[in-house]
Amino acid sequence: MELRLLGQTGMAVSVIGLGTVTWGRLAGLGYPVPSALPSDVRLASLLERAEALGVNLIDTAPAYGESEARLGALLAGRRGRWRIASKAGETFDGARSHFDFSRPAILASVGRSMRRLRTDRLDLVTVHSDGEEEGEAKFGQAVDALARLKRQGGIGAVGFSAKTEAGACWAAIRCDVVMLTWNETDQSLSLGLRDAQRHRAGVLVKKPLAQGRLPASSLRFAVGTAGVTSAILGTSDPQHLDAAVKAVLGDHDTQAGIENPC
Ligand SMILES: NC(=O)c1ccc[n+]([C@@H]2O[C@H](COP(=O)([O-])OP(=O)(O)OC[C@H]3O[C@@H](n4cnc5c(N)ncnc54)[C@H](OP(=O)(O)O)[C@@H]3O)[C@@H](O)[C@H]2O)c1
Repeated sequence: MELRLLGQTGMAVSVIGLGTVTWGRLAGLGYPVPSALPSDVRLASLLERAEALGVNLIDTAPAYGESEARLGALLAGRRGRWRIASKAGETFDGARSHFDFSRPAILASVGRSMRRLRTDRLDLVTVHSDGEEEGEAKFGQAVDALARLKRQGGIGAVGFSAKTEAGACWAAIRCDVVMLTWNETDQSLSLGLRDAQRHRAGVLVKKPLAQGRLPASSLRFAVGTAGVTSAILGTSDPQHLDAAVKAVLGDHDTQAGIENPC
């Protein structure tokens, strides 16, 4: 699988990453088809298939319920093969989200994520925005706290998951990585993507299939857009991952045995 540099972080990540929101949370997600939490056996098989395909990037968050803890258990003994991206700023209590972008809350959240993920280093931590994106005044403290952790070596890069054009444009200047929705039916953050490209920030696409409303072939649109580093595909199904990789890269790249450089 093709690897791309994630902005100026020096990290090489696969052009398709794995999204794990449905691994640990069912409520309040907006998917068109309701699902049950996947079994450990299914997720272990998905991770094995992903590794064989050359996927090396996985995205999780404290707000994804059991996702971090399940991932930590499943990655035991294979942590070195993966670039782990988590988030901070949002928690979910099973019914609703809570947000805290203060320095102490961000630091406590990263520590908790590391314990759940059974690692002493996260490759990327992204501020999990609440959608009311007032830039520096609201998120400056969170980004500064993460930048300090980066200087100390605890995390590899600082990101911001944007929901508005203003938030994405601010993050393009302030962060190593911007996460934004980008697919065939939603290109509303195009100025954010343009600014990220200008400032050489990495771009991770969330919802590349519009939460399952688009076919696997639509991934080609996300990964083929200039400035996009990687599309984070949400799935718990090894066959869906295979289909998505095949749709983007053709049969050749779906063969097992590709070396993962991590
Ligand atoms: N930071 C944020 O605010 C934020 C917000 C949303 C998402 N994210 C991240 O981005 C990731 C991706 O976004 P997303 O999961 O919301 O949406 P998505 O990737 O656009 O779509 C996921 C949906 O598509 C289905 N799917 C995947 N591959 C398929 C295939 N080949 N054929 C048919 N259906 C397929 C999945 O079901 P199956 O499980 O059955 O494959 C799932 O229901 C998330 O998992 C999360 O890590 C971040």
